[in-house]
Amino acid sequence: MNSIIFLQNLYLLQYVNNPASLQAEKIHTVFNYFYWAAAGMLLLVVFLVVYICIRFQQKKGDNNQPVRTIYSNKLEALMIGVPVLLLAFFFYETVSTMNAVSPPVPTNREPDVIITGHQWWWEVDYPNAHVVTSNEVHLPVGKHLLMQMRSADVVHDWWVPELGNKMDLVPNHPNYLWLNINKPGKYTGACSEFCGAQHAWMRISVIAQDENDFNKWLAQNAKAAMPPGDTLAKTGAELFQSKTCASCHRIQGTAATSNVGPDLTHIASRHMLLTGLMKNSEENLYKWISHPQEIKPGAHMPDFNMNKDSVKAIVHYLEQLK
Ligand code: CUA
Repeated sequence: MNSIIFLQNLYLLQYVNNPASLQAEKIHTVFNYFYWAAAGMLLLVVFLVVYICIRFQQKKGDNNQPVRTIYSNKLEALMIGVPVLLLAFFFYETVSTMNAVSPPVPTNREPDVIITGHQWWWEVDYPNAHVVTSNEVHLPVGKHLLMQMRSADVVHDWWVPELGNKMDLVPNHPNYLWLNINKPGKYTGACSEFCGAQHAWMRISVIAQDENDFNKWLAQNAKAAMPPGDTLAKTGAELFQSKTCASCHRIQGTAATSNVGPDLTHIASRHMLLTGLMKNSEENLYKWISHPQEIKPGAHMPDFNMNKDSVKAIVHYLEQLK
């Protein structure tokens, strides 16, 4: 299990050098100071070791004892002074970056987005627009966003390297993350706190959009779900409500209102299923609903052993929910 966590974080490191938010840029700058200071120190030490070995080795026929320097004020001052100055510089840079990246949240400031970690998916709530979605996090570019981080069960950790720092999602203790995204794009992240069997499949997908595109998306997602378009979808919708699906999932505009599992109001408009485990397609959704425990062992959705026709009808209904 540890190797999975290790590899997962390794895979995210490729994004660290591509900051796409104000916060990530500041962190990247401090990171570079540390990186180059450490690299310089390493080069200096390696150089001195090699140089001294060659320059001061005993020459043939030279049996004189080398001169011993017992005490040197200059050297002492250098050895203490340089590290103290370096430490002071790094301390100042670190603290001022922390303050710039995570300033205190004013008491009257409401969050723009509420992210709730669940085993093993992300609930995404836009309180001002009354929109709830899951796993694909749409965010506007160029806004000073405040994200509230919550957990429904155990500790999770939000990390999208291109967008800045990590933030823990702790049960009963909301945390906050400020975010100013600079450029539109798709940013990958993952849960970075071990949270159970499917921790490795708790990917984050942030889709950063221009304000216009984002508002369009928001308006589309504020709408109630489309009513079933044909007879098969109608059968699927009825099955969805009568089988246990409706007791865990929410489809806005229907009797299904639970948030135990992901919101499915506009599931057909998402790119991936199961927090990044597979592409969103009828075929994959069929596989998932038929045998959830084979696809994502330990997930809280049980095997319902429904007959093929029922699953097909439900999939057909869900894949129309754009
Ligand atoms: Cu959620 Cu790891």
